[in-house]
Amino acid sequence: MLDIAFAKAVLPKTGVLVLPLSEGAALTGLAAALDKALAGGLKRAISAAEFTGKKGQSASLLAPNAGLKRVLLLGTGKPEAFTARAAEELGGAIFAAISKEPEATVLAETLDATHAAHLGLGARLRSYKFDKYRTTLKEDEKAKLAKLTILSGDPIKSRAAYAPLAAVADGVEFTRDLVTEPANVLYPAEFAERVEELKKLGLKIEVYGKKDLEKLGFGSLLSVSWGSEREPRMVVLQWLGASGATGTDGKKTKKPKDPIAFIGKGVTFDTGGISIKPAAGMEDMKWDMAGAGTVVGLMAALAGRKARVDAVGLVGLVENMPSGSAVRPGDVVKSYSGQTIEILNTDAEGRLVLADVLYYAQERFAPKYMIDLATLTGAIIVGLGHEYAGLFSNDDELSEKLIAAGKVTDEKLWRMPLAPLGEAYDKNLNSPIADMQNIGGGRAGGSITAAQFLQRFVNGKPWAHLDIAGMAWATKDSATTPKGASAFGVRLLDRLVADHFEG
Ligand code: BES
Ligand code: MN
Ligand code: ZN
Repeated sequence: MLDIAFAKAVLPKTGVLVLPLSEGAALTGLAAALDKALAGGLKRAISAAEFTGKKGQSASLLAPNAGLKRVLLLGTGKPEAFTARAAEELGGAIFAAISKEPEATVLAETLDATHAAHLGLGARLRSYKFDKYRTTLKEDEKAKLAKLTILSGDPIKSRAAYAPLAAVADGVEFTRDLVTEPANVLYPAEFAERVEELKKLGLKIEVYGKKDLEKLGFGSLLSVSWGSEREPRMVVLQWLGASGATGTDGKKTKKPKDPIAFIGKGVTFDTGGISIKPAAGMEDMKWDMAGAGTVVGLMAALAGRKARVDAVGLVGLVENMPSGSAVRPGDVVKSYSGQTIEILNTDAEGRLVLADVLYYAQERFAPKYMIDLATLTGAIIVGLGHEYAGLFSNDDELSEKLIAAGKVTDEKLWRMPLAPLGEAYDKNLNSPIADMQNIGGGRAGGSITAAQFLQRFVNGKPWAHLDIAGMAWATKDSATTPKGASAFGVRLLDRLVADHFEG
């Protein structure tokens, strides 16, 4: 894990110095002092490289006369367009540029102290790597940078601003680790065990096994697990940051009060079951638990930064396998809600898992808002690609808040239709022999059909469903997300909570 340190602005005597400069900015403070130490060399380099400070521009100079290995100039664009998110992207770009260096310092004295903290977050997010199964990594393939020192105009303020961001980064890393693990290692019981480690953050955690779920009547979720040797689990996480441990009224409540509920699809591997998937690309289905991974990472973030909110996280964990005991197309099961489902396609399993967990969350916690995350449909990738996650909601206000939070964190959401506006989509789910069937309408509007199915398990509560199938796994590096598990949604939902639900 990359260590982020904040220090007061004094020119370093060794290593690489990174100098972010905005468009049209004059060299002031330490940058001016450095130029002097280099006998005007910095200014000459800027002019020789035609460096103007435009966003994304870079220039590099050797600076042995100042004791430094190298000075790296990075353009940050127009100062008025420089936001907290821009600072995170800058931090990510800095890490990517200097990860092979043993020692580096960023001169951020002219940045706002909070922006300097976000720069640290961006670097930390970009530095994530998952090397545990690599035994032959060569020295030059490894990142060497263990610590990034950020020189701030107000290091105390930067450090204070960074503390909650570090908790969010911890949550993101927790999610990424889970999502990246292969399915032979991470199956429902193992997932649940790893979540139990989060007790140390003050989260209350319950794990429900197969027998417990049978007793509860989770016939829909359980049917997905029939074909697998691996037993299912449901994990319930509670964070009582408003009414409990950190409550302001002195009285400790045991139950969350009007919590926000986050629900995640946790299919640790999705073969499709008897409606088996084609071989090509099936390995991707190890990350079909990304919704659940995001929910637990988010709960870790909220607890880690002691958010003043009551929140509950519920994840349904199953493995979808074909076998002699697997659920067959045409089987009818009874969900926890009491509604019966004719399973026409065993590959439409995520909705079967969420149906029971959503209904349970609602019954047990009477949440103020419910938000579920799921790698639910391939159709959302056809519709939105890898730029936007699909947002389905019965509540305009919640939708707007989610979209706004996503704009801040650069996790973009696009709202899709849902009944009553899209009543016709719902009708496709009517079954000739049960209360509903788990697919309908053919391939057309597949993500909407899936959302309609979920809505049949929501009792009019303000609810949002995020279909993250196109966003959970990045196939290329971006500013703050290296290729691989993105943890899409952790920062967005943390932002939503911070902006709207903390007293
Ligand atoms: N886990 C998949 C959806 C998915 C596809 C996620 C690609 C990430 C990448 C889901 O369980 C699924 O199989 N959905 C089917 C539904 C269909 C059978 C109605 C799909 O999208 O094809
Ligand atoms: Mn499936
Ligand atoms: Zn799936």
